[in-house]
Amino acid sequence: MRTYLVTGGAGFIGSNYIHYMFKKYDNDIRIINVDALTYAGNLENLVDIENRDNYTFVKADICNKEAISKIFAENDIDRVVHFAAESHVDRSIKNPEVFVQTNVLGTAVMLNCAKAAWELPDGSFKEGKKFLHVSTDEVYGSLPDDENAFFYETTPYDPHSPYSASKASSDMLVKAYMDTYKFPANITNCSNNYGPYQFPEKLIPLIINNALSGKKLPVYGDGKNVRDWLFVEDHAKAIDMVQEQGRLFETYNIGGHNEKQNIEIINIIIETLQEMLPDNDPRKALVSKDLITYVEDRKGHDRRYAIAPDKIKKEVGWFPETMFAEGIKKTIAWFFEHEDWMKNVTSGDYQKYYNDMYEGK
Ligand code: NAD
Ligand code: DAU
Repeated sequence: MRTYLVTGGAGFIGSNYIHYMFKKYDNDIRIINVDALTYAGNLENLVDIENRDNYTFVKADICNKEAISKIFAENDIDRVVHFAAESHVDRSIKNPEVFVQTNVLGTAVMLNCAKAAWELPDGSFKEGKKFLHVSTDEVYGSLPDDENAFFYETTPYDPHSPYSASKASSDMLVKAYMDTYKFPANITNCSNNYGPYQFPEKLIPLIINNALSGKKLPVYGDGKNVRDWLFVEDHAKAIDMVQEQGRLFETYNIGGHNEKQNIEIINIIIETLQEMLPDNDPRKALVSKDLITYVEDRKGHDRRYAIAPDKIKKEVGWFPETMFAEGIKKTIAWFFEHEDWMKNVTSGDYQKYYNDMYEGK
Protein backbone atom coordinates (compact mmCIF):
# COMPACT_ATOMS: atom_id res chain seq x y z
CA MET A 1 0.00 0.00 0.00
CA ARG A 2 1.41 3.39 -1.04
CA THR A 3 1.56 6.14 1.58
CA TYR A 4 1.02 9.73 0.43
CA LEU A 5 2.08 12.84 2.27
CA VAL A 6 -0.16 15.61 0.94
CA THR A 7 0.60 19.19 2.00
CA GLY A 8 -2.16 21.81 1.93
CA GLY A 9 -4.85 19.14 1.69
CA ALA A 10 -7.39 21.30 3.55
CA GLY A 11 -7.29 23.94 0.80
CA PHE A 12 -9.22 24.08 -2.45
CA ILE A 13 -7.23 21.87 -4.82
CA GLY A 14 -5.71 19.71 -2.08
CA SER A 15 -9.11 18.69 -0.69
CA ASN A 16 -10.43 17.94 -4.19
CA TYR A 17 -7.32 15.84 -4.82
CA ILE A 18 -7.82 13.86 -1.60
CA HIS A 19 -11.46 13.18 -2.53
CA TYR A 20 -10.39 12.13 -6.02
CA MET A 21 -7.68 9.79 -4.70
CA PHE A 22 -9.99 8.00 -2.24
CA LYS A 23 -12.63 7.67 -4.95
CA LYS A 24 -10.05 6.13 -7.26
CA TYR A 25 -7.93 4.00 -4.91
CA ASP A 26 -10.28 3.55 -1.91
CA ASN A 27 -8.40 1.44 0.66
CA ASP A 28 -5.37 0.76 -1.53
CA ILE A 29 -3.59 3.94 -0.44
CA ARG A 30 -2.97 5.82 2.80
CA ILE A 31 -3.01 9.63 2.93
CA ILE A 32 -1.42 11.85 5.55
CA ASN A 33 -2.59 15.42 5.11
CA VAL A 34 -0.36 18.13 6.59
CA ASP A 35 -1.89 21.57 6.73
CA ALA A 36 -1.32 24.62 8.93
CA LEU A 37 -5.00 25.62 8.55
CA THR A 38 -4.42 29.21 7.52
CA TYR A 39 -7.47 31.30 6.51
CA ALA A 40 -7.57 29.15 3.32
CA GLY A 41 -7.44 25.76 5.05
CA ASN A 42 -10.76 24.32 6.10
CA LEU A 43 -11.33 20.89 7.64
CA GLU A 44 -15.00 21.17 6.66
CA ASN A 45 -13.74 20.36 3.13
CA LEU A 46 -12.84 16.87 4.35
CA VAL A 47 -15.64 15.92 6.76
CA ASP A 48 -16.83 13.05 4.60
CA ILE A 49 -13.46 11.29 4.63
CA GLU A 50 -12.04 12.30 8.03
CA ASN A 51 -12.99 9.04 9.75
CA ARG A 52 -11.37 6.71 7.23
CA ASP A 53 -8.78 4.37 8.75
CA ASN A 54 -6.42 5.15 5.86
CA TYR A 55 -6.52 8.95 6.38
CA THR A 56 -4.65 11.04 8.95
CA PHE A 57 -4.66 14.79 9.46
CA VAL A 58 -1.63 16.53 10.99
CA LYS A 59 -1.87 20.23 11.79
CA ALA A 60 1.61 21.57 11.08
CA ASP A 61 3.38 24.35 9.26
CA ILE A 62 5.53 23.17 6.35
CA CYS A 63 8.20 25.63 7.50
CA ASN A 64 8.52 23.66 10.74
CA LYS A 65 11.43 21.30 10.06
CA GLU A 66 10.96 19.27 13.25
CA ALA A 67 7.28 18.62 12.60
CA ILE A 68 7.85 17.60 8.98
CA SER A 69 10.86 15.35 9.68
CA LYS A 70 8.87 13.66 12.46
CA ILE A 71 6.19 12.69 9.91
CA PHE A 72 8.85 11.21 7.62
CA ALA A 73 10.50 9.41 10.57
CA GLU A 74 7.23 7.84 11.74
CA ASN A 75 5.89 6.88 8.31
CA ASP A 76 7.36 5.23 5.25
CA ILE A 77 6.26 7.92 2.79
CA ASP A 78 6.17 6.84 -0.87
CA ARG A 79 4.71 9.95 -2.48
CA VAL A 80 4.77 13.61 -1.59
CA VAL A 81 2.20 15.84 -3.31
CA HIS A 82 3.04 19.38 -2.34
CA PHE A 83 0.13 21.85 -2.62
CA ALA A 84 0.63 23.96 0.52
CA ALA A 85 1.16 27.58 -0.41
CA GLU A 86 -0.12 31.09 -0.07
CA SER A 87 -2.11 31.18 -3.30
CA HIS A 88 -3.85 34.53 -3.81
CA VAL A 89 -2.21 37.16 -6.03
CA ASP A 90 -4.03 40.15 -4.48
CA ARG A 91 -2.90 39.15 -0.99
CA SER A 92 0.68 38.81 -2.26
CA ILE A 93 0.56 42.40 -3.53
CA LYS A 94 -0.51 43.62 -0.08
CA ASN A 95 1.68 41.34 2.01
CA PRO A 96 4.49 39.60 0.09
CA GLU A 97 6.58 38.29 2.99
CA VAL A 98 4.40 35.36 4.01
CA PHE A 99 4.51 34.21 0.37
CA VAL A 100 8.29 33.96 0.51
CA GLN A 101 8.09 32.24 3.89
CA THR A 102 5.56 29.55 2.96
CA ASN A 103 6.15 29.12 -0.75
CA VAL A 104 9.94 29.29 -0.81
CA LEU A 105 11.13 28.30 2.68
CA GLY A 106 8.29 25.83 3.15
CA THR A 107 9.18 24.10 -0.12
CA ALA A 108 12.84 24.00 0.93
CA VAL A 109 11.85 22.26 4.17
CA MET A 110 9.68 19.75 2.31
CA LEU A 111 12.50 18.96 -0.13
CA ASN A 112 15.11 18.64 2.62
CA CYS A 113 13.00 16.36 4.77
CA ALA A 114 12.06 14.13 1.83
CA LYS A 115 15.68 13.97 0.69
CA ALA A 116 16.88 13.06 4.19
CA ALA A 117 14.27 10.31 4.50
CA TRP A 118 14.72 8.85 1.02
CA GLU A 119 18.48 9.15 0.38
CA LEU A 120 20.66 6.04 0.56
CA PRO A 121 24.31 6.08 1.78
CA ASP A 122 25.60 6.11 -1.82
CA GLY A 123 23.59 9.27 -2.63
CA SER A 124 20.94 7.48 -4.68
CA PHE A 125 17.30 7.36 -3.58
CA LYS A 126 15.15 4.50 -2.32
CA GLU A 127 13.31 2.79 -5.16
CA GLY A 128 9.94 4.20 -6.15
CA LYS A 129 9.86 7.36 -4.01
CA LYS A 130 8.42 10.43 -5.75
CA PHE A 131 7.84 14.10 -4.97
CA LEU A 132 5.39 16.19 -6.99
CA HIS A 133 5.54 19.96 -6.71
CA VAL A 134 2.29 21.67 -7.65
CA SER A 135 2.95 24.99 -9.35
CA THR A 136 1.31 27.53 -11.59
CA ASP A 137 1.36 28.87 -15.15
CA GLU A 138 1.85 32.35 -13.65
CA VAL A 139 5.60 31.66 -13.45
CA TYR A 140 5.72 32.16 -17.24
CA GLY A 141 4.46 35.74 -17.00
CA SER A 142 1.94 37.20 -19.40
CA LEU A 143 0.99 36.39 -23.01
CA PRO A 144 -0.05 38.96 -25.60
CA ASP A 145 -3.68 39.19 -26.79
CA ASP A 146 -2.98 36.69 -29.55
CA GLU A 147 -4.99 33.48 -29.55
CA ASN A 148 -2.10 31.57 -31.10
CA ALA A 149 0.31 32.34 -28.24
CA PHE A 150 0.63 29.66 -25.53
CA PHE A 151 2.80 28.74 -22.58
CA TYR A 152 4.93 25.64 -23.12
CA GLU A 153 7.22 23.81 -20.68
CA THR A 154 10.12 25.52 -22.48
CA THR A 155 8.73 29.06 -22.05
CA PRO A 156 11.23 31.13 -20.01
CA TYR A 157 10.16 32.07 -16.49
CA ASP A 158 9.04 35.70 -16.17
CA PRO A 159 6.99 36.09 -12.98
CA HIS A 160 5.46 39.48 -12.18
CA SER A 161 3.59 39.31 -8.88
CA PRO A 162 5.12 38.49 -5.50
CA TYR A 163 2.99 35.31 -5.60
CA SER A 164 4.30 34.14 -8.96
CA ALA A 165 7.85 35.16 -8.04
CA SER A 166 7.64 32.99 -4.92
CA LYS A 167 6.22 30.05 -6.91
CA ALA A 168 8.95 30.49 -9.55
CA SER A 169 11.56 30.43 -6.76
CA SER A 170 10.09 27.25 -5.34
CA ASP A 171 10.11 25.64 -8.82
CA MET A 172 13.78 26.58 -9.17
CA LEU A 173 14.55 24.91 -5.86
CA VAL A 174 12.86 21.70 -7.00
CA LYS A 175 14.79 21.88 -10.29
CA ALA A 176 18.02 22.41 -8.32
CA TYR A 177 17.33 19.29 -6.23
CA MET A 178 16.66 17.26 -9.36
CA ASP A 179 19.81 18.54 -11.11
CA THR A 180 22.12 18.37 -8.11
CA TYR A 181 21.00 15.23 -6.31
CA LYS A 182 18.88 13.46 -8.95
CA PHE A 183 16.09 13.91 -6.41
CA PRO A 184 13.03 12.00 -7.78
CA ALA A 185 10.54 14.75 -8.53
CA ASN A 186 8.17 16.30 -11.03
CA ILE A 187 6.82 19.82 -11.36
CA THR A 188 3.35 20.58 -12.70
CA ASN A 189 2.39 24.09 -13.79
CA CYS A 190 -1.34 24.46 -13.94
CA SER A 191 -3.77 27.10 -15.17
CA ASN A 192 -6.69 28.62 -13.19
CA ASN A 193 -8.77 26.01 -11.38
CA TYR A 194 -12.45 26.29 -10.48
CA GLY A 195 -14.90 23.97 -8.74
CA PRO A 196 -16.19 22.89 -5.31
CA TYR A 197 -14.50 24.15 -2.13
CA GLN A 198 -12.83 27.16 -3.80
CA PHE A 199 -12.34 30.02 -1.37
CA PRO A 200 -14.47 33.06 -2.39
CA GLU A 201 -11.52 35.47 -2.64
CA LYS A 202 -10.95 33.99 -6.16
CA LEU A 203 -12.91 35.27 -9.16
CA ILE A 204 -15.45 32.48 -9.80
CA PRO A 205 -16.69 31.78 -6.24
CA LEU A 206 -16.55 35.50 -5.44
CA ILE A 207 -18.83 36.30 -8.38
CA ILE A 208 -21.23 33.43 -7.55
CA ASN A 209 -21.45 34.52 -3.92
CA ASN A 210 -21.82 38.23 -4.62
CA ALA A 211 -24.40 37.71 -7.38
CA LEU A 212 -26.55 35.54 -5.10
CA SER A 213 -26.51 38.25 -2.45
CA GLY A 214 -27.10 41.13 -4.90
CA LYS A 215 -23.65 42.59 -4.19
CA LYS A 216 -21.47 44.42 -6.75
CA LEU A 217 -19.42 42.21 -9.08
CA PRO A 218 -15.95 43.82 -9.14
CA VAL A 219 -14.20 43.61 -12.53
CA TYR A 220 -10.56 44.67 -12.53
CA GLY A 221 -9.46 47.03 -15.32
CA ASP A 222 -11.24 46.52 -18.65
CA GLY A 223 -12.32 42.95 -17.82
CA LYS A 224 -10.55 41.62 -20.88
CA ASN A 225 -7.72 39.79 -19.11
CA VAL A 226 -7.77 36.16 -20.16
CA ARG A 227 -7.42 33.08 -17.96
CA ASP A 228 -7.43 29.41 -19.00
CA TRP A 229 -10.00 27.71 -16.74
CA LEU A 230 -9.66 24.08 -15.67
CA PHE A 231 -12.18 22.06 -13.65
CA VAL A 232 -10.43 21.06 -10.42
CA GLU A 233 -11.25 17.34 -10.67
CA ASP A 234 -9.49 17.23 -14.03
CA HIS A 235 -6.47 18.78 -12.32
CA ALA A 236 -6.55 16.15 -9.54
CA LYS A 237 -6.60 13.41 -12.15
CA ALA A 238 -3.69 15.01 -14.02
CA ILE A 239 -1.55 15.13 -10.89
CA ASP A 240 -2.09 11.44 -10.22
CA MET A 241 -1.38 10.54 -13.85
CA VAL A 242 1.82 12.60 -13.96
CA GLN A 243 3.06 11.01 -10.76
CA GLU A 244 2.32 7.45 -11.93
CA GLN A 245 2.87 7.68 -15.68
CA GLY A 246 5.02 10.76 -16.26
CA ARG A 247 8.78 10.71 -16.69
CA LEU A 248 10.67 11.64 -13.52
CA PHE A 249 12.49 15.00 -13.51
CA GLU A 250 10.08 16.41 -16.09
CA THR A 251 7.80 19.42 -15.93
CA TYR A 252 4.24 19.06 -17.25
CA ASN A 253 1.92 21.97 -17.97
CA ILE A 254 -1.75 21.32 -17.16
CA GLY A 255 -4.34 23.52 -18.85
CA GLY A 256 -8.01 23.54 -19.69
CA HIS A 257 -7.69 24.71 -23.31
CA ASN A 258 -10.46 27.02 -22.22
CA GLU A 259 -9.36 30.63 -22.44
CA LYS A 260 -11.93 33.24 -21.57
CA GLN A 261 -11.94 36.93 -20.75
CA ASN A 262 -12.96 37.71 -17.16
CA ILE A 263 -16.02 39.59 -18.35
CA GLU A 264 -17.14 36.55 -20.38
CA ILE A 265 -16.80 34.38 -17.25
CA ILE A 266 -18.90 36.82 -15.24
CA ASN A 267 -21.61 36.96 -17.90
CA ILE A 268 -21.72 33.14 -18.12
CA ILE A 269 -22.05 32.89 -14.32
CA ILE A 270 -24.94 35.35 -14.24
CA GLU A 271 -26.75 33.61 -17.10
CA THR A 272 -26.19 30.17 -15.56
CA LEU A 273 -27.41 31.32 -12.14
CA GLN A 274 -30.57 32.78 -13.72
CA GLU A 275 -31.14 29.51 -15.57
CA MET A 276 -30.53 27.27 -12.56
CA LEU A 277 -32.39 29.20 -9.83
CA PRO A 278 -36.04 28.17 -9.51
CA ASP A 279 -38.57 30.95 -10.09
CA ASN A 280 -39.70 30.93 -6.45
CA ASP A 281 -36.15 31.43 -5.12
CA PRO A 282 -35.89 35.06 -3.83
CA ARG A 283 -32.23 35.22 -4.95
CA LYS A 284 -33.32 35.04 -8.60
CA ALA A 285 -34.44 38.67 -8.52
CA LEU A 286 -31.05 39.76 -7.14
CA VAL A 287 -28.90 38.15 -9.85
CA SER A 288 -28.37 40.73 -12.57
CA LYS A 289 -25.79 42.04 -15.02
CA ASP A 290 -26.47 45.49 -13.51
CA LEU A 291 -24.27 44.38 -10.58
CA ILE A 292 -21.16 44.37 -12.82
CA THR A 293 -18.87 47.15 -11.60
CA TYR A 294 -15.58 48.06 -13.22
CA VAL A 295 -13.01 48.82 -10.52
CA GLU A 296 -9.36 49.86 -10.32
CA ASP A 297 -7.07 47.34 -11.99
CA ARG A 298 -4.83 44.90 -10.10
CA LYS A 299 -1.26 46.23 -9.93
CA GLY A 300 0.94 44.51 -12.52
CA HIS A 301 -2.09 42.58 -13.80
CA ASP A 302 -0.97 39.82 -16.21
CA ARG A 303 -2.95 40.14 -19.45
CA ARG A 304 -3.37 36.62 -20.69
CA TYR A 305 -2.57 33.05 -19.62
CA ALA A 306 -3.04 30.05 -21.92
CA ILE A 307 -1.51 26.60 -21.78
CA ALA A 308 -1.08 24.24 -24.68
CA PRO A 309 -1.27 20.93 -22.78
CA ASP A 310 0.42 19.01 -25.63
CA LYS A 311 3.19 17.33 -23.63
CA ILE A 312 0.96 15.88 -20.91
CA LYS A 313 -1.48 14.68 -23.58
CA LYS A 314 1.21 13.01 -25.65
CA GLU A 315 3.30 11.49 -22.84
CA VAL A 316 0.75 10.81 -20.12
CA GLY A 317 -2.52 10.56 -22.03
CA TRP A 318 -4.28 13.24 -19.96
CA PHE A 319 -6.59 15.86 -21.45
CA PRO A 320 -9.12 18.27 -19.89
CA GLU A 321 -12.40 16.33 -19.89
CA THR A 322 -14.86 18.84 -18.44
CA MET A 323 -16.22 21.51 -20.76
CA PHE A 324 -16.66 24.88 -19.07
CA ALA A 325 -20.46 24.90 -19.59
CA GLU A 326 -20.67 21.61 -17.65
CA GLY A 327 -18.02 22.48 -15.04
CA ILE A 328 -19.61 25.81 -14.13
CA LYS A 329 -23.02 24.13 -13.66
CA LYS A 330 -21.48 21.51 -11.37
CA THR A 331 -19.70 24.27 -9.44
CA ILE A 332 -22.83 26.40 -9.02
CA ALA A 333 -24.86 23.32 -8.03
CA TRP A 334 -22.22 22.56 -5.38
CA PHE A 335 -22.45 26.11 -4.00
CA PHE A 336 -26.27 25.85 -3.92
CA GLU A 337 -25.96 22.66 -1.87
CA HIS A 338 -23.32 24.12 0.47
CA GLU A 339 -24.74 27.46 1.57
CA ASP A 340 -23.50 26.87 5.12
CA TRP A 341 -19.96 26.27 3.88
CA MET A 342 -20.03 29.65 2.16
CA LYS A 343 -21.54 31.35 5.24
CA ASN A 344 -18.85 29.88 7.48
CA VAL A 345 -15.91 30.89 5.30
CA THR A 346 -17.20 34.39 4.54
CA SER A 347 -17.70 35.37 8.17
CA GLY A 348 -14.97 36.75 10.43
CA ASP A 349 -11.51 37.24 8.92
CA TYR A 350 -12.68 36.97 5.34
CA GLN A 351 -15.25 39.73 5.82
CA LYS A 352 -12.48 42.00 7.10
CA TYR A 353 -10.22 41.10 4.14
CA TYR A 354 -13.08 41.77 1.71
CA ASN A 355 -13.87 45.18 3.20
CA ASP A 356 -10.17 46.22 3.14
CA MET A 357 -9.57 44.83 -0.35
CA TYR A 358 -12.58 46.34 -2.10
CA GLU A 359 -12.93 49.50 -0.01
CA GLY A 360 -12.90 52.48 -2.38
CA LYS A 361 -13.00 50.19 -5.47
P1 NAD B 1 -5.53 27.35 -1.20
O1 NAD B 1 -5.09 28.70 -0.79
O2 NAD B 1 -6.97 27.06 -1.38
O3 NAD B 1 -4.97 26.25 -0.17
C1 NAD B 1 -3.69 26.31 0.36
C2 NAD B 1 -3.61 25.35 1.53
O4 NAD B 1 -2.27 25.38 2.04
C3 NAD B 1 -4.54 25.73 2.69
O5 NAD B 1 -5.20 24.58 3.18
C4 NAD B 1 -3.60 26.30 3.74
O6 NAD B 1 -4.05 26.12 5.07
C5 NAD B 1 -2.33 25.51 3.45
N1 NAD B 1 -1.13 26.22 3.90
C6 NAD B 1 -0.80 27.52 3.66
N2 NAD B 1 0.36 27.82 4.26
C7 NAD B 1 0.78 26.68 4.89
C8 NAD B 1 1.92 26.35 5.66
N3 NAD B 1 2.87 27.26 5.94
N4 NAD B 1 2.04 25.07 6.12
C9 NAD B 1 1.10 24.15 5.85
N5 NAD B 1 -0.02 24.41 5.14
C10 NAD B 1 -0.17 25.67 4.66
O7 NAD B 1 -4.71 27.04 -2.53
P2 NAD B 1 -5.14 26.22 -3.83
O8 NAD B 1 -5.86 27.13 -4.74
O9 NAD B 1 -5.75 24.94 -3.40
O10 NAD B 1 -3.70 25.95 -4.46
C11 NAD B 1 -2.95 24.79 -4.10
C12 NAD B 1 -1.63 24.81 -4.86
O11 NAD B 1 -1.89 24.85 -6.25
C13 NAD B 1 -0.76 26.02 -4.57
O12 NAD B 1 0.57 25.59 -4.51
C14 NAD B 1 -0.99 26.94 -5.76
O13 NAD B 1 0.15 27.75 -6.00
C15 NAD B 1 -1.20 25.92 -6.87
N6 NAD B 1 -2.04 26.37 -8.00
C16 NAD B 1 -3.30 26.86 -7.76
C17 NAD B 1 -4.10 27.19 -8.85
C18 NAD B 1 -5.51 27.72 -8.66
O14 NAD B 1 -6.15 28.09 -9.65
N7 NAD B 1 -6.06 27.76 -7.46
C19 NAD B 1 -3.61 27.04 -10.16
C20 NAD B 1 -2.31 26.55 -10.33
C21 NAD B 1 -1.54 26.20 -9.24
O1 DAU C 1 -3.09 30.80 -13.24
C1 DAU C 1 -3.05 30.05 -12.07
C2 DAU C 1 -3.34 30.92 -10.88
O2 DAU C 1 -4.73 31.22 -10.91
C3 DAU C 1 -2.96 30.29 -9.55
O3 DAU C 1 -1.58 30.08 -9.51
C4 DAU C 1 -3.39 31.16 -8.37
O4 DAU C 1 -3.13 30.49 -7.15
C5 DAU C 1 -4.87 31.43 -8.49
O5 DAU C 1 -5.29 32.30 -7.47
C6 DAU C 1 -5.21 32.03 -9.85
O6 DAU C 1 -4.65 33.37 -9.98
P1 DAU C 1 -5.46 34.56 -10.70
O7 DAU C 1 -4.94 35.83 -10.20
O8 DAU C 1 -5.52 34.35 -12.16
O9 DAU C 1 -6.94 34.24 -10.11
P2 DAU C 1 -8.07 35.20 -9.49
O10 DAU C 1 -9.27 34.34 -9.30
O11 DAU C 1 -7.57 36.00 -8.34
O12 DAU C 1 -8.36 36.21 -10.69
C7 DAU C 1 -8.76 35.73 -11.97
C8 DAU C 1 -8.89 36.94 -12.88
O13 DAU C 1 -10.02 37.73 -12.46
C9 DAU C 1 -7.70 37.88 -12.84
O14 DAU C 1 -7.48 38.42 -14.15
C10 DAU C 1 -8.13 39.00 -11.89
C11 DAU C 1 -9.62 39.06 -12.10
N1 DAU C 1 -10.42 39.47 -10.93
C12 DAU C 1 -10.24 38.80 -9.76
C13 DAU C 1 -10.96 39.13 -8.62
C14 DAU C 1 -10.73 38.40 -7.33
C15 DAU C 1 -11.39 40.47 -11.03
O15 DAU C 1 -11.59 41.05 -12.13
N2 DAU C 1 -12.13 40.78 -9.92
C16 DAU C 1 -11.95 40.17 -8.71
O16 DAU C 1 -12.62 40.56 -7.72
